[in-house]
Amino acid sequence: MRMIRVLQIASLGFALAAAGVVVAQEGAELKPANTRVDNLASLQRGARLYFNYCAGCHSLQYLRYSRLAEDLQLSEEQVLKNFAFTGAKIGDLAVSNLPAAKADEWFGKAPPDLSLEARAKGPDWIYNYLKAFYLDESRPSGWNNTVFPNVAMPNVLWELQGVQRAVYAPAKAGEEPRVERLELAAKGALSPMEFDEAARDLTAFLEYVGEPAKLKREAMGVWVVLYLGFFTLLAWLLKHEYWKDVH
Ligand code: HEC
Repeated sequence: MRMIRVLQIASLGFALAAAGVVVAQEGAELKPANTRVDNLASLQRGARLYFNYCAGCHSLQYLRYSRLAEDLQLSEEQVLKNFAFTGAKIGDLAVSNLPAAKADEWFGKAPPDLSLEARAKGPDWIYNYLKAFYLDESRPSGWNNTVFPNVAMPNVLWELQGVQRAVYAPAKAGEEPRVERLELAAKGALSPMEFDEAARDLTAFLEYVGEPAKLKREAMGVWVVLYLGFFTLLAWLLKHEYWKDVH
């Protein structure tokens, strides 16, 4: 009996915690990522960014380079030359060479595998997270993030984005200072609009990685609908033909 009570309380706790997570995410006011996973050019640009800026630390443990070549309509040479910097072969998985123990030591946390990140957090979260880094000298990496406070990852895209600083809301006594907004303190290689596009491409690529079959499924969906439409028409014509004699 007592055990049941404990379980009930525990599950209530979980439910409340889950609700809290949702509220917290809504509180962050994520802007829509507006990704298009059927936009091949966007996926290709996203892949290029991913393998240049992310693959050194993160892995995509279910993705083979050969699959990438096929899905993004690139040749195997293009994929190996542009994406596989670790001396990988075309049949290999896109895993990082970073030893987990070293990663722990350097960042205090191992960079997680990003295969299912888009499914776990959603595209909007990733898109906003990539844009939310700001300078924070109190952090070991020198960076903080408004979408993921005290994140262990540094802002690896700062050369593209430029450097953001936090503007704090006036703090009440005894409260932690709250970041009101971020402002660009130093320009990057890309304009803010171009950087939004880069973050969108990266997010679209991670969405594709989370569900590679989606590309094929959506393309196939159109044919299924056309096929069904065609057979409905045939059935209707047939019925028409039969009833003609009856009338
Ligand atoms: C220098 C190593 C490094 C590089 C390069 C790097 N990351 Fe990270 N990343 C990390 C670490 C470490 C964490 C774990 C942060 C934490 O849990 O505090 C992380 C966390 C993340 C998360 C959040 C995962 C979660 O907990 O849900 C995402 C998303 C992410 N990285 C995406 C990227 C993308 C996209 C790139 C390329 C633009 C990139 N990272 C490049 C080290 C790196």
